[in-house]
Amino acid sequence: MRKPIIAGNWKMHKTATASEAFARDLCDNITGAAVDVVICPNFTALLPVGIAIKETPIKLGAQNMHWEEQGAFTGEISPAMLQDSGCDYVIVGHSERRQYFAETDEAVNKKVKAALAHNLTPIVCVGEMLAQREAGQTQTIVGAQVRGGLAGLSAEAVASLVIAYEPVWAIGTGRTASAVDAQEVCRFIRDTVAALVGQGSADCVRIQYGGSVKADNIDELMAQPDIDGALVGGASLDTKTFARIVNFQ
Ligand code: G3P
Repeated sequence: MRKPIIAGNWKMHKTATASEAFARDLCDNITGAAVDVVICPNFTALLPVGIAIKETPIKLGAQNMHWEEQGAFTGEISPAMLQDSGCDYVIVGHSERRQYFAETDEAVNKKVKAALAHNLTPIVCVGEMLAQREAGQTQTIVGAQVRGGLAGLSAEAVASLVIAYEPVWAIGTGRTASAVDAQEVCRFIRDTVAALVGQGSADCVRIQYGGSVKADNIDELMAQPDIDGALVGGASLDTKTFARIVNFQ
């Protein structure tokens, strides 16, 4: 049985001071440990938020990282720096990084391998654009992203990952994919993993849905057999709403 995992991607929405205060408030609203809960503030907030959640079951994640150990990469952050900041998870390949920063499947694959080498669990984002869905290319696009992102990984490594299916057209739009559509693609992702490294890993890898997840749609999404969690953007910026999503029925 896969343990559900709900992650909040705060994107570029809170200063470190605001993030710490928000995290402390969140701790009062999220107490159980039946679900893995991960919060992903911006880099400047990792340390203060990590301190705020230290005695709770909530885990810390980053929104990105470079794959190099160190070097002349102005503005970048290494996996060791994230580990040192108290992170257990890191989002890689988010559509906004693919779209605005030209992140390729090859780069995602390097980041996945570097994260695993530093005991960080990657949350590997995949998802199609609206035009690709309308052209019937969802499985082609998502399949290529999964194979590209996971290339060269052992079955054991893949089993430990989290994959987040985030249709780009559902991110920040309020237009959530239907639970049936989300289930269909998440099942396709699981089958793609099985073909890549075997059914054992496919049965273990946790697959999230992301894209306008809200308190009023989380229950139906989590009722789907191949959806093991959610990667939440806007709704994670309100403690009560995020707590309701974490405490899905
Ligand atoms: O990484 C999660 C994010 O892309 C989803 O954003 O605001 O549609 O929940 P949102």
